[in-house]
Amino acid sequence: MVTENMNDTKRGQAIYTKSFLALYDLTVLGFFCSFIWRCPSHHILELYDQHVSKNHLDIGVGTGYFLDHCRFPVSNPRLALMDLNPNSLMKSRERLERYNPEVYRMNVLEIEMAGIQHFDSVALTNLLHCLPGTMKTKGIVFEKIRSLLNPGGVVFGSTILGKGVDNNFLAKYFINANNTRGVMTNMQDDLDSLMNELEQYFPESSVKVIGSMALFWGKK
Ligand SMILES: C[S@@+](CC[C@H](N)C(=O)[O-])C[C@H]1O[C@@H](n2cnc3c(N)ncnc32)[C@H](O)[C@@H]1O
Repeated sequence: MVTENMNDTKRGQAIYTKSFLALYDLTVLGFFCSFIWRCPSHHILELYDQHVSKNHLDIGVGTGYFLDHCRFPVSNPRLALMDLNPNSLMKSRERLERYNPEVYRMNVLEIEMAGIQHFDSVALTNLLHCLPGTMKTKGIVFEKIRSLLNPGGVVFGSTILGKGVDNNFLAKYFINANNTRGVMTNMQDDLDSLMNELEQYFPESSVKVIGSMALFWGKK
């Protein structure tokens, strides 16, 4: 059965067509991160360099830009790519072919990975703001990721917050427009609710705000 919530979930990933992905690095990671969200993408790349492991799962891969540019601790990491959108999976798989990635087409809100070897790091970069619901209901993602991590493993990522950060006029405009179109659902996402969800599932965690973005990690 396709529920209302499933329709909202589909709207959050439907924009990632082949032509949009061709422009994604330049427009979204270049222009929007620097000038609209005021968090230049090198901050996110630094988060990868700090936390990515030799046994990594990336959820909501987009074009695979950060995985292509980050420093893995070994030359031949185990890399798994997960996304609901086949275009994102195709684009990132091609780009990261040198790592021979495992590929999973899956909705992060309904992860089923029984029997899969667990991971030492999981990234969800710029994904939470695409998911329907409130930060409280999105928290299920942390619960699911926790169950996929080895002891001591780390989850990390970034998300655009709709509330409680210093969103300027342009950020507010694009958050509003994207929420109306269903591309984003983050009007009510704020720092406290993100911290609460992380703390609920991870004994150690941290959230840092840069512009409109929260950069976070949690350790199992
Ligand atoms: C904003 S892009 C982020 C891409 C990349 N992580 C980055 O930071 O550049 C969001 C990605 O999440 C995927 N996505 C959206 N909703 C999803 C869901 N419910 N489950 C899995 N992937 C989803 C989209 O298809 C897209 O590839």
